Amino acid sequence: MPDKYAVIGNPVGHSLSPDIHRAFARATGQDITYDRLLAPLDAFEASVRKFFNDHESGRGLNVTLPFKREAWDIVDCHCGYALDAEAVNTIKLTGGRLEGHNTDGVGLLRDLEQNLEFPIRGKRVLIMGAGGATHGVVQPLLAARPESIIVANRTLDKAASLVSHFRRFRDLAADGLAALPYERLAGAQFDVVINATSAGLTGEMPPLPQSVFAPGALAYDMVYGKVTPFLKFAAARGARTADGIGMLVEQAAESFLVWRGVRPDTKPVIDWLRAEGGNMRAEGGGST
Ligand code: ATR
Repeated sequence: MPDKYAVIGNPVGHSLSPDIHRAFARATGQDITYDRLLAPLDAFEASVRKFFNDHESGRGLNVTLPFKREAWDIVDCHCGYALDAEAVNTIKLTGGRLEGHNTDGVGLLRDLEQNLEFPIRGKRVLIMGAGGATHGVVQPLLAARPESIIVANRTLDKAASLVSHFRRFRDLAADGLAALPYERLAGAQFDVVINATSAGLTGEMPPLPQSVFAPGALAYDMVYGKVTPFLKFAAARGARTADGIGMLVEQAAESFLVWRGVRPDTKPVIDWLRAEGGNMRAEGGGST
């Protein structure tokens, strides 16, 4: 019987994870099945247990909105960046225990540094938003040794508490990690501006000053399948732009590696999803 995997979320019908993981399995010759699993909002843990109890061949789950934090609570141990992210997007059943991983940050880093050839070392980074998406990527971004990371958020308290949560890693950035309200960004310039807010999904954008992009800056929106107002704003000011499709595929490849011990080639899958273009529904946050 093939090993069984699924993505669990609510809603989950839009998820591209089954397409991505089936493509990885074909390309690497792995005999697996991968489905979508809709969990009731009040029964995430029961749904996870049922998946592994009902399916003897159940080996792993991807977790998507809104359950990534809850997944962190129910797993038996946390691996790598999942511990401090306090969010889990990949569960692996191993030796009867549920291991929790978070591959979102590594996925973003690989997309930035390998696919887009934009090394983070020495760069001034601005991240907009202080929700789960930002939690998942701050530590891996710091590990890439930027000059600085500023977290801007509409609700400043949330950005301040996120920065305080990750304070023991802040020295990885020469100039540290800090929280600022959008109004305080006036006059500052950044080499990479990452939109980790959900604003683009509703056709809005955070209130960025006009001059925020340094020459040669990259504007990155974690939302995929749509040109957001932020990306239009950035392109009009001469910045290079990228949506979150590369991050989506890279975090999936990292999950596949956790489960199967083999890292699939991501480029053909990214190219294929880009070619699908308009047929994809917009989604946010490296979301499985
Ligand atoms: P996720 O887990 O995807 O990060 P979330 O926890 O709901 O989702 O966080 C969404 C983020 O987008 C928040 O930082 C939110 O700002 P607030 O904390 O002030 O609510 C941000 N956001 C959503 N819509 C926005 C908008 N129109 N402008 C600016 N920020 C926005």
